Amino acid sequence: MIHYQFTHLSEEIRARVDALLAQMTLEEKIGQMNQVTPHWTSDLEAQLRTGQIGSILGIIDPTEINRFQRIAVQESRLGIPLLIGNDVIHGYRTVFPIPLAEACTWDPALQEQASRVAAAEAAACGTDWIFAPMVDICRDPRWGRIAEGAGEDPFLGRAMARARVRGFQSAGLPGRRRIVACPKHYVAYGAAEAGRDYNSTDPSERTLRDVYLPPFKAAFDEGAGTTMSAFNEIGGIPATANSFTLKRVLREEWGFADMLVVSDYNAIAELVAHGIAADLKEAARKAIMAGVDMDMMSFAYIRHLADLVREGSVPEAAIDAAVRRILALKFALGLFDHPYIDEMLPAQVILHPEHRALALEVARRSMVLLKNDGLLPLRVAPTSKIALIGPLADDHAAPLGCWAWMGRPEDVESVLDGFQACLPAGIELDHVRGCAVWRDPFEEFGRAEAAARAADVAVLVLGEDAHMSGEARSRAYLDLPGRQQALLERVLTTGTPTVVVLMSGRPLVLTPWIDRVNAVLQAWHGGIRAGRAVAEILLGQVNPSGKLSVTFPRALGQVPIYYAHKNTGRPLQGTGTLQFADPFWSRYIDEENEPCFPFGYGLSYTTYRYDNLQIETPVVEMGGTLRVSATVTNTGTMAGEEVVQLYVRDLVGSVTRPVKELKGFQRIALAPGESVRVSLAVPADELGFHGPDNRYVVEPGAFRVWIGPNSVEGLEGEFELRA
Ligand code: BGC
Repeated sequence: MIHYQFTHLSEEIRARVDALLAQMTLEEKIGQMNQVTPHWTSDLEAQLRTGQIGSILGIIDPTEINRFQRIAVQESRLGIPLLIGNDVIHGYRTVFPIPLAEACTWDPALQEQASRVAAAEAAACGTDWIFAPMVDICRDPRWGRIAEGAGEDPFLGRAMARARVRGFQSAGLPGRRRIVACPKHYVAYGAAEAGRDYNSTDPSERTLRDVYLPPFKAAFDEGAGTTMSAFNEIGGIPATANSFTLKRVLREEWGFADMLVVSDYNAIAELVAHGIAADLKEAARKAIMAGVDMDMMSFAYIRHLADLVREGSVPEAAIDAAVRRILALKFALGLFDHPYIDEMLPAQVILHPEHRALALEVARRSMVLLKNDGLLPLRVAPTSKIALIGPLADDHAAPLGCWAWMGRPEDVESVLDGFQACLPAGIELDHVRGCAVWRDPFEEFGRAEAAARAADVAVLVLGEDAHMSGEARSRAYLDLPGRQQALLERVLTTGTPTVVVLMSGRPLVLTPWIDRVNAVLQAWHGGIRAGRAVAEILLGQVNPSGKLSVTFPRALGQVPIYYAHKNTGRPLQGTGTLQFADPFWSRYIDEENEPCFPFGYGLSYTTYRYDNLQIETPVVEMGGTLRVSATVTNTGTMAGEEVVQLYVRDLVGSVTRPVKELKGFQRIALAPGESVRVSLAVPADELGFHGPDNRYVVEPGAFRVWIGPNSVEGLEGEFELRA
């Protein structure tokens, strides 16, 4: 698919911007830097007429958008069109699985298509600017916003970030409209201490550069024209006043001089609460001087920038630079030429059958089979009885997930709907809610037990509702909320074979009960087609192929837990510390170090064998390419898709290196008995890291490499990177 680049602007656009800027008063310039939402802004129309607003966020009614646009274009002195920004995090009206789940597809091409569908619906309804992809790496499932990103790994995160930017910024959207993406939240927001939203972060500069920045760089390299400065502080300097990340890294090192930076919602005002500005005026000065071009809902710029310029504490050149970026983007999006939307368009585009079909395909591939003792796929006979139990079994809101405010429950297929659509006639399906998700004393354990007892199989749909993850939805416990575990225990007393379908916006701790159930399908918040995909998978109409984009801890106390950890000086298994006896290892005295399920993990109804590892390039020259291949065979009886993963370990570096790092992957389809030779290539440049002086280095030396089905299993070999 062809997509637009908004990072480097043409000379023609620069000339148009200069001509316009020359006509603008200081107040009109500052107006362009002001972004508001109508819900909290009185006199919006008057402000549009006087040029005090450059962008509106949070409006989705096309008629209203056209009305505001007409005022800006036809009734303000310079007729500068508005930029309409919205959060389109995992679909517009066609809601896809949450991004954490989408990443479990390990299918960037599919992700690109899904993002294009989101962009098509958003564009048809008048959005110009999508506040996504959310590319924050997160290794702490307490943080509710882990749902919005691609998980714990920078390599997978980069692949997904690129795919989403390409999809959002696709050419050929309805009504000839264009969309610009906004990778966010710049930067390190996902490192919130203790998983508490908005909390401080303090990654070292090396971790910032090795882990948190790369998905942003990937998204910008793909042409994303904007970014959003985050709420959090980074080692003492809030991201919204951070000239190191916003100027030195973004503009100077990476060269994105034209990139438009918008603050997060009220983030400039929050510099006061952070304690680095005495008042809103000082906050405005710090934000503009650090490189924030547009103020989202702090009213700091509109109230104080003009005075700051007149007093000489902010140079007008700083204002001009910001306004240039804003105007340039409006030109690049074509808004000066086509400011209005065709109000007939949404009806033709929204929830188009092709969009719904794609949502189903993404849902199928995003679900991860975590456990299966052979109960799945369910073998239903004409006389079978299925008990469908749990608060989420017929829930039409939870599958929409945390960031789908254009989504509607009536568009959603629940698991009950899915079973009704997929089950052959005659099969008895007994649905019992059992209990509430949480915070509600409703309970019908007796009915649940009776239904399970009378059934051949009990399917429990448990987990979190849509409001338990997302912004400001951190959790201190990661177990099944409310009375759900008690409900499960009650069903287990019947001895009826039991499948748990988990809907959640984050990894949960499954250890208290997982050994006692027969199968577990991690279904996440799977979007409008979630229930259909669950039913198809449980009934064997679809073979599950999702792989975890994030580690599942065994216990809350292991968090943060991630596969790409460092070895430490006293690794639990390993050499170098043999003079020390137990317990002087890096370990817990009361829990294993290992997770419940590792990154990259996911089962299938078939089995795959990996063999014949070949290191095609045992010596890789600097600037060259590592090539590794292996044979993957479908040793089962069902066709399936496998995500083949390549990991490396740099054995000795000038700084310590992770025990494993994902460096490649490929999704392959295999018929029963079929073998495929998979060859993965890694450019030597990808094998570097930020060294002692925080500069990127690729160091010669010995590496280990694995090709396998997840981050802990696989065929192991070695290669050397030679200077
Ligand atoms: C969120 C952003 C979002 C913005 C606008 C903020 O609260 O952190 O992710 O884009 O609101 O809705």
